[in-house]
Formats: sequence, C-alpha cells, structure tokens
Amino acid sequence: DDSRLKRIASSIRVIPDFPKPEGVMFQDITTLLLDPQAFKDTIDLFVERYKGKGITVVAGIEARGFIFGPPIALAIGAKFVPMRKPKKLPGEVISEEYSLEYGTDKIEIHVDAVQPGDRALVIDDLVATGGTLSAAIRLLERVGAEVVESACVIELPELKEVRLGYRSEDVQSLVLV
Ligand code: PRP
Ligand code: HPA
Repeated sequence: DDSRLKRIASSIRVIPDFPKPEGVMFQDITTLLLDPQAFKDTIDLFVERYKGKGITVVAGIEARGFIFGPPIALAIGAKFVPMRKPKKLPGEVISEEYSLEYGTDKIEIHVDAVQPGDRALVIDDLVATGGTLSAAIRLLERVGAEVVESACVIELPELKEVRLGYRSEDVQSLVLV
C-alpha cells in the first residue's frame, strides 16, 4: 500500500501561482493520469475500500470527479451520477450553493438520478476548504441518499471540515499535501 501511495503522491505535479499569482501551489492530477500504474493504483485503492459495502451510487463532482468516479463505479457495480456546475444538466435538477474565496458557486444533480435508499460515495480529485464536497453531500441527502463516505485523491491543509447541516463528516484522502 505504502509504495502505491508514494507513487501516486510523486506523480502529482505542483504548479506555483496557478490560476492566480498569489502563491497558490496548484496540485495538478493530469500528470497522475500520464502514469498508468499510478492511475490504476489510485482506482484500485478506492475499489478495495468500497467493494462489497453496498454502495449503489458513485457521485462525481465536476470536473475531475468525472475522471476518478466512473472507473470506481464500474469496478464496484454502482451507477455513476455527475454533479455539475449550474445550467449543464438538461433534466430536472436541484442545486446547492457553496462559498468561494470571493462570492459563491452552485452545483446541481438530476433529481431522478438518485432514490431514497441509495447508498452514495462522493468522489472528487481534491478537497481544499471542503465547501464543494459539503454542498455535494447536502444534495445527495436532499434526494434521499445515505452518504456512506466521501473520498478524494488529495487533501490540502486548509480543510476544516466537510459540513452537513448537523454533523461533520470524514473525507478519505490518499495524499495529504
Ligand atoms: C476544485 C477541486 C474541487 C474544489 C475543492 O474544483 O477539483 O472540486 O475545487 O475546493 P473546496 O474544497 O475549497 O470547495 P474547481 O472549483 O477548480 O472546479 P473545476 O474542477 O470545474 O475546474
Ligand atoms: N488543485 C486543484 N484544484 C484545486 C486546488 C489545487 O491545488 N486548490 C483548490 N482547488
């Protein structure tokens, strides 16, 4: 396990001052995708954790949750549900707002993609403040799913907690930076 995690961590490229010149150290997962062994190890580690847990839906957060979510969903036999930026999904949606450094953003889910009784895993590439993931969890709960866990490849130190209305939730992260 440890050697897999080391390979994954070293395959992530860090780009200073992207997208803004404010000393941000941007964690770039596109280089992880260029290393087929690191990409496979990433998926395998999640699949090993979530196989056989009765998860019926893997919900991926736009955009990079769309890269890691589908192979996990296929391997554990769950449906894949995209959670998207506003006005991208064509069917009936519900949305949740979350705070950014300046202002707010929203994510949306198709109301008929998830039913009460579904057991959900939320996937993204990275958790920073936890705002996006918190909004994703609230959406899944509003459509009646039980959120079993949320998982990311990378966790930044600014993570405080992933907040629902009434409790905070652990995030499973492979790489802490
Ligand atoms: C990034 C990242 C997470 C989110 C984490 O996406 O992929 O989704 O930010 O930040 P938070 O924990 O502070 O909410 P971004 O908003 O850059 O969107 P994109 O993937 O569509 O480019
Ligand atoms: N990489 C990718 N997405 C992000 C980052 C990062 O370093 N910080 C906040 N969102």
